[in-house]
Amino acid sequence: MEAHFLLLGLGLVLLLAAQHAPAVAIPGPECQTKCGEVDIPYPFGIGDNCSLSTGFNAICQEVQRGVYKPFLGNVELLNISLINGTIRELNHISTYCYNSSSGMMDADTWYYDVRLSPYRFSDVHHKFPVIGCNTLTYIKDRNLIDLTNGSCSGMGCCQTAIPKGMGYYQVGFDSGFNTSQIWSFSRCSYAMLMEVEAFNFSIAYLSTTKFNDTNTGRAPVVMAWAIRNGTMSLGCDEAKLNKMGTYACLSSNSGCVDSRNGPGYLCNCSQGYEGNPYVRDGCHDADECKNSPCPSGGVCPQHNRRIPLFVSSRT
Ligand SMILES: *[C@@H]1O[C@H](CO)[C@@H](O)[C@H](O)[C@H]1NC(C)=O
Ligand SMILES: *[C@@H]1O[C@H](CO)[C@@H](O)[C@H](O)[C@H]1NC(C)=O
Ligand SMILES: *[C@@H]1O[C@H](CO)[C@@H](O)[C@H](O)[C@H]1NC(C)=O
Ligand SMILES: *[C@@H]1O[C@H](CO)[C@@H](O)[C@H](O)[C@H]1NC(C)=O
Ligand SMILES: *[C@@H]1O[C@H](CO)[C@@H](O)[C@H](O)[C@H]1NC(C)=O
Ligand SMILES: *[C@@H]1O[C@H](CO)[C@@H](O)[C@H](O)[C@H]1NC(C)=O
Ligand SMILES: *[C@@H]1O[C@H](CO)[C@@H](O)[C@H](O)[C@H]1NC(C)=O
Ligand SMILES: *[C@@H]1O[C@H](CO)[C@@H](O)[C@H](O)[C@H]1NC(C)=O
Ligand SMILES: *[C@@H]1O[C@H](CO)[C@@H](O)[C@H](O)[C@H]1NC(C)=O
Ligand SMILES: *[C@@H]1O[C@H](CO)[C@@H](O)[C@H](O)[C@H]1NC(C)=O
Repeated sequence: MEAHFLLLGLGLVLLLAAQHAPAVAIPGPECQTKCGEVDIPYPFGIGDNCSLSTGFNAICQEVQRGVYKPFLGNVELLNISLINGTIRELNHISTYCYNSSSGMMDADTWYYDVRLSPYRFSDVHHKFPVIGCNTLTYIKDRNLIDLTNGSCSGMGCCQTAIPKGMGYYQVGFDSGFNTSQIWSFSRCSYAMLMEVEAFNFSIAYLSTTKFNDTNTGRAPVVMAWAIRNGTMSLGCDEAKLNKMGTYACLSSNSGCVDSRNGPGYLCNCSQGYEGNPYVRDGCHDADECKNSPCPSGGVCPQHNRRIPLFVSSRT
């Protein structure tokens, strides 16, 4: 059967060419490192001179009186993890609803394009849940090739995994599967790429607008980020040569890790150190006593002084 896709022009393009700032542009003391409740560590920053490149440039917006939230483009940013190389953000839910006054299906579908940005959809954190009765949904790539299918017929919800390195996705609903016969019970179908942990199916999602209402029509997604420059991709081996003066692992006691999701690399602090490898002197001695208290009389390991582990002063 031939599938028909209803793809409206509603969508989101995040064409953030990742131009590196000059190596001297370390975030200055004037740079804000928090927006509302969310920490914004370098290479992320608020404002041009505070981030490594435009792709890491967040906007801090007052969404209600006195309530500030960070955005990347027009997508709300929930969390940044330097260690995991991930961010969490809120992505739009696509909907496909029967309209009883027109007798037609109304589609509100989204696409999300991050191919020229430092981000990729994380392959490990996602499901593509489809909620609805009698629904067939697709994720399409740029060339409208099926990446994965999620279909529901009766069960009410199903989900599927996504491929690695995905930088574009578009949701399509198959018009041959619709809710025109069951709309009085279940008017809408929903589909979106979404964080596994954040999704918990409820039967109420079929017959109410609860699912769409929870985050005002949005659901959390996890994006894997890396230090990369548009289509030009430096792996660690090249980046370390620092030919352009743009090697991002600036801290002493830091190292380079090739990105596992798309081109580019990430930085990490060496074993025994913690902090921010992307800023000078950002990696500092991990306080190893914090998690496992030293035996009495013991000395905590200080890697930079090369003192052997747990020297006991007891005889
Ligand atoms: C980024 O890539 C463009 C071309 O793809 C190149 O002209 C530019 O110099 C690169 N910038 C850095 C900092 O590598
Ligand atoms: C997300 O942010 C909250 C508060 O901003 C923090 O408590 C939580 O640990 C973060 N979670 C992750 C996975 O980063
Ligand atoms: C960013 O830095 C440039 C060069 O140092 C300066 O001209 C510009 O005013 C700065 N922009 C902001 C918003 O501080
Ligand atoms: C990093 O990933 C691990 C494993 O997936 C997870 O348990 C942890 O909460 C993540 N940390 C942050 C800050 O996102
Ligand atoms: C239903 O369709 C009518 C006519 O096309 C339109 O005016 C109305 O906004 C639609 N209702 C909803 C809930 O989308
Ligand atoms: C998705 O489903 C359609 C229709 O059943 C099928 O033609 C297509 O091969 C499937 N694609 C994948 C990636 O499973
Ligand atoms: C719903 O699907 C049926 C067949 O699957 C089709 O005949 C009908 O035209 C569709 N209705 C709408 C409103 O799209
Ligand atoms: C999922 O939802 C059910 C019913 O609402 C609830 O009992 C359960 O604790 C939830 N699980 C998680 C992981 O949120
Ligand atoms: C989903 O929520 C958004 C934001 O509140 C709203 O604009 C949209 O109309 C809702 N869609 C449905 C089908 O309920
Ligand atoms: C940093 O990454 C390298 C390469 O993946 C890994 O061998 C090393 O254990 C990591 N260091 C820390 C402290 O996680």
